[in-house]
Amino acid sequence: MFTAPPEDSIDRSGGLRPAGVGSAGSASPWWRDAVIYQIYVRSFLDSTGDGIGDLAGVRAGLPYVSKLGVDGIWLSPFYPSPQRDHGYDVADYKAVDPVYGDLDEFALLVADAHRLGLKVVLDIVPNHCSSEHPWFREALAAAPGSEARALFHFADGKGEHGELPPNNWRAMFGGPAWSRVEEADGTPGQWYMHLFTPEQPDLNWRDPRVAPYFDEVLRFWLDQGVDGFRIDVAAGLFHHPDLPDSDDPGADERTRDSVNPLAWNQPEVHGVWRRWRAVCESYTAVDGQDRLLVGEVSVPTAAEQAAYVRPDELHQAFFFHLLSAPWNPDAFRKVIGEALRDIAGTGSTVTWVLNNHDQVRTVTRYGSDNSAAGAARARAAALLMLALPGAAYIYQGEELGLPEVDLPDEALTDPIFLRTGSRQYVRDGCRVPLPWSGHASPFGFTGADSTARPWLPQPGWFADHTTDRALNDTDSFWHLYRNGLALRRDFHLRGDATLRWLETPPDVLAFVRGDGLVCAVNFGGQDVPAPVPGTPLLASAPSPAGVLPGNAAAWWAADPPGAV
Ligand code: GLC
Repeated sequence: MFTAPPEDSIDRSGGLRPAGVGSAGSASPWWRDAVIYQIYVRSFLDSTGDGIGDLAGVRAGLPYVSKLGVDGIWLSPFYPSPQRDHGYDVADYKAVDPVYGDLDEFALLVADAHRLGLKVVLDIVPNHCSSEHPWFREALAAAPGSEARALFHFADGKGEHGELPPNNWRAMFGGPAWSRVEEADGTPGQWYMHLFTPEQPDLNWRDPRVAPYFDEVLRFWLDQGVDGFRIDVAAGLFHHPDLPDSDDPGADERTRDSVNPLAWNQPEVHGVWRRWRAVCESYTAVDGQDRLLVGEVSVPTAAEQAAYVRPDELHQAFFFHLLSAPWNPDAFRKVIGEALRDIAGTGSTVTWVLNNHDQVRTVTRYGSDNSAAGAARARAAALLMLALPGAAYIYQGEELGLPEVDLPDEALTDPIFLRTGSRQYVRDGCRVPLPWSGHASPFGFTGADSTARPWLPQPGWFADHTTDRALNDTDSFWHLYRNGLALRRDFHLRGDATLRWLETPPDVLAFVRGDGLVCAVNFGGQDVPAPVPGTPLLASAPSPAGVLPGNAAAWWAADPPGAV
């Protein structure tokens, strides 16, 4: 039977202040500087005892999320799916996979979230569907050149017998971006394109049936009360119409961020985001509530990203350059400066992110040279992110300071590993089910009397990172995040996009925000003098007056405001 998270991890009073409420009198739309908590549903909380998180589990954990002080949640895909890429292979866009619950459970979740003042953002996957989607099944059964095949990218192969793929593009998760089908008569036939796994065929957005289909999907969920969408692969959707060979076909395989310019970031994609914005605005026109479109936009520069967040396109796009910056003041200052100049400078908001379900967690990432420093740096980076102008996303477990889990090969489920055999970009280690309580797996993730194990194994050291321990320890990551989020509100940082850099020694970055909040980060290992006098309001490490320790960040109130 399902055991709810420990009582003391749940705040039934709704926390310090109702989430979702901006500073009084702010005319800025809620999403411009919202902080959203990403819930990877499969790994959040399991209500049924099958070892897989679900929507009822999310609902049970909402008070915990609300108490942190965020404005909303983003739910990873929970639609019917063969789970070849853990839900990013959608077989039905307007339903709930029975593994996660049903539409009634979803309605209860939305109602509870709204009662707690939390916005609800769904993950939507328009670049590709599942090979089990009815459209693709029909396409496979239909003949070359048919209407059914026109919904995808089917093409004849090259070579004497069509035995070679139509071009040399590579898939992000390994191998060619094309797979060959068997025609109805059993002979080897055409090829279809998939930028990810073969079970994720790319949709052909040049076909006039695709856009209206997704309009309906958006409306279906908006009618269920959702507040917005996180858009998967938002720089994909269109490819060069002639599908020419790439000069650098390996680009997509080398890193998940480098992209084949013929396959990504084509100008036509902006028309889709204008269309989706119009759908959202049609709901706002009725009830006055802003909806949110946040794109996973992996493009090379901040300036290119700015094109996705023009006033009639997406509201937000994840700015991944902060996430990929090494722990180094010059790298951080450069990417922050570019984002503020090229994105905020055009009137849009910057959307900061340090962790998500695709990336090695910060504690491990920043600790590759020195594991003890990793946690200190991750805490410092969190304070930095929360002090920056714009919106921010927190990935579940980030607020617990979870390190990446080093899983054995036999436990890995990521298609990147299954297809390439390489652990280099493997993502299971940041997706291990959350520890809630207790001293041994399943750590309250699933009911203690359940016989099913969590779908990915939890290490014994998760005992040090449970939510109940974090809530009871005022020095925990959780309290740092909670206090940072509360101060962010108190300092009226919302609605104000300005940031002024202060003069600092080479290892230190410091800036002033809003009503006089000073944030400083010491990237070096040695103590340095604090950039402003006094005792910090909030620090990522114990900080004697006048000192900023190594690998630490702190916030001070300038006294009087404007004194620095
Ligand atoms: C995005 C998702 C990732 C998924 C991929 C394919 O990058 O964040 O998890 O595997 O798209 O849909």
